[in-house]
Amino acid sequence: MTTSNLLELRDLCVSYGTPERPLPAVAHVDLAIRPGEIIGIAGESGSGKSTLCSAMIRALPDEARVAGDIVFAGRSLNAMGAAELRRLRGREISMILQNPMTSLDPLFTIGDQLGEVLTTRAGVSAAERGRRMVDVLRAVHLTAPERRVHQYPHELSGGMRQRVLIGMASSAAPKLLLADEPTTALDATIQEEILVLFNEIRDRHGTAIVVVTHDLGVIRRLCDRIVIMYLGRIVEEGPVETIFESPQHPYTRALLDSIPRIDGKRGALRTIPGQVPSLADAGENCAFAPRCARVQPRCRAEIPRETRIADDHRAFCWDLELRP
Ligand SMILES: Nc1ncnc2c1ncn2[C@@H]1O[C@H](COP(=O)(O)OP(=O)(O)O)[C@@H](O)[C@H]1O
Ligand SMILES: [Mg+2]
Repeated sequence: MTTSNLLELRDLCVSYGTPERPLPAVAHVDLAIRPGEIIGIAGESGSGKSTLCSAMIRALPDEARVAGDIVFAGRSLNAMGAAELRRLRGREISMILQNPMTSLDPLFTIGDQLGEVLTTRAGVSAAERGRRMVDVLRAVHLTAPERRVHQYPHELSGGMRQRVLIGMASSAAPKLLLADEPTTALDATIQEEILVLFNEIRDRHGTAIVVVTHDLGVIRRLCDRIVIMYLGRIVEEGPVETIFESPQHPYTRALLDSIPRIDGKRGALRTIPGQVPSLADAGENCAFAPRCARVQPRCRAEIPRETRIADDHRAFCWDLELRP
């Protein structure tokens, strides 16, 4: 990893549970994010995507135990005090959560909340605030922005609320935007429009964006790079084109096979056969082994090591080492 990376995670581990019985939600993750790139994180529910995302901004619940390094723009987040961390959040790193209803306060108008963000994060003066609020709402393509300022969250649709949140999150031109399942609660046409917004934010501010989603279609249309997680570990990482054209890990293949095709020939979403693993079973083996068609004895005895398929493409699978 080089210092030109915006964010580096080095051997990051996050566990819940007790020290005697730790539940390793994220285990030994190394990941580098470059300025201005859009990265998708995919994997089944419970694979540690949200935990990883929250760790990037050190916004984990108190009960989480963290090991490893989180380095943002050359600064270690581990070593940062509360005040410095607060300054970083919202200004240089901001986060958009899944549920746009609970992220806005129902008792205050859009203008109250957006104005507050503009003052505290972007340092906008009181005189400038009204104009800037309208600019932000217009930038996320909200119709009648002047009127929205006076409305309450419940007067807006889910898609409109998500636009407001994206506007807030990007108003200070952050270097990194974390979006945890930003389109899950929205219908398909709105999803597309939200993707367009992310691209515009990246182009306008050079913002790097991490999108967590279980929707691989979203990743394919939006991202430069994809990270696939399974039970807290990265199993494969590479450029979107490469991963979609020649996935290496059996889990990635299974995940890609489970996407419904546009022509509908495969019908509904297929699920991957076998049991979704539980953190309580995480051990010194490949967690995917019980569901894997290419499983070998070694997979049940040892954690797979990293195999580099190319400079920018890696996977963790014992079978890869033996494949011709
Ligand atoms: N605050 C918490 N306390 C205990 N376990 C948690 C907590 N948050 C997440 N977990 C567990 O960590 C694992 C990963 O969760 P999460 O990061 O939410 O995965 P994902 O976002 O991929 O669904 C899950 O097994 C989940 O139950
Ligand atoms: Mg999640």
